[in-house]
Amino acid sequence: MSAPTSDTPGDLGPSIRPRRLRSTAAMRGLVRETELRPHQLVLPVFVREGLDAPQPIASMPGVEQHSLDSVRAISARAAAAGLGGIMLFGVPERRDAVGSGATDPQGILNAAARAVVAEVGESLVVQTDLCLDEFTDHGHCGVLDAQGRVDNDASLERYAAMAVAQAEAGAQLLGLSGMMDGQTRVARAALDAAGFTNVALLAYSAKYASAFYGPFRDAVESPLQGDRRTYQLDPANAREGVREAALDVQEGADIVMVKPALAYLDVLRRVADVSPVPVWAYMVSGEHAMIAAAAQRGWIDGDRAQLEALVSIRRAGADAVLSYASLDLVERGLIA
Ligand code: PBG
Repeated sequence: MSAPTSDTPGDLGPSIRPRRLRSTAAMRGLVRETELRPHQLVLPVFVREGLDAPQPIASMPGVEQHSLDSVRAISARAAAAGLGGIMLFGVPERRDAVGSGATDPQGILNAAARAVVAEVGESLVVQTDLCLDEFTDHGHCGVLDAQGRVDNDASLERYAAMAVAQAEAGAQLLGLSGMMDGQTRVARAALDAAGFTNVALLAYSAKYASAFYGPFRDAVESPLQGDRRTYQLDPANAREGVREAALDVQEGADIVMVKPALAYLDVLRRVADVSPVPVWAYMVSGEHAMIAAAAQRGWIDGDRAQLEALVSIRRAGADAVLSYASLDLVERGLIA
């Protein structure tokens, strides 16, 4: 079957008119290829130890550090709005070289997971960040060796203990964001050995060494000096991102992720084309902040920009998206 070919010179007008399908909102709705629904969104939240009331984060307009009480309240709102999940990050009062707070059952992240599970049960997928950087006094995602380099295998031992502590706290999906080699295998083995065979793993497989994490480092009050280029991916590499995702699948990842999102839509598409497991993307703090800051100045329409970003990330292959704007957009009826 062949469609009519394009216009020949001398025609009065084109016979092929794609604009017909854009003529009304109803028509556009009928031909829309990509859906954006609340259940495809995950809200990342920060929980700070020792807070009585939520505190705004200067570089992330509309985003706050939560107390244990206020995180319960926002998780209830997220569940009521029909979001798919919530991703918890802890901001501890004290940090040390090995990130002890990450494995302490009373540590802020584990306490937050228990509080949120008590509030929402299974109506949201309760997720925890499985990484040491919020808990170490040097701010790296792993522990350091005698030369001050990030020690891969020593970090894995900490991740294994962290996985079990988070599962004991009730988290249902653990977000491995440390970019240590073998972390998915180690977390899976530790969970299985402890009987948590139903706790799932979200591997931040293709996590790039990105400037777009800047506001996040404010949000978690990160002490990091230097950067994460010995473990996070080089922004120049797409093939390597695909390889990391494949390795995580082999190691038992239930879901793989690409992060950041907007500057890596090509990587997302390539991973989505070959992944046998669901693929998620994380629209990170700096991506949120860019839109929010420009919108505050009246330079762009913030709502439209957020929706366009999210639908583009879905179009590029993400089954679900982590977004700081997700709850606000759903509560205001912009995503339904
Ligand atoms: C590591 C982690 C980071 C983010 C999510 N998990 C920080 C980093 O790798 O530097 C960044 C998310 C964001 O910028 O929104 N715990």
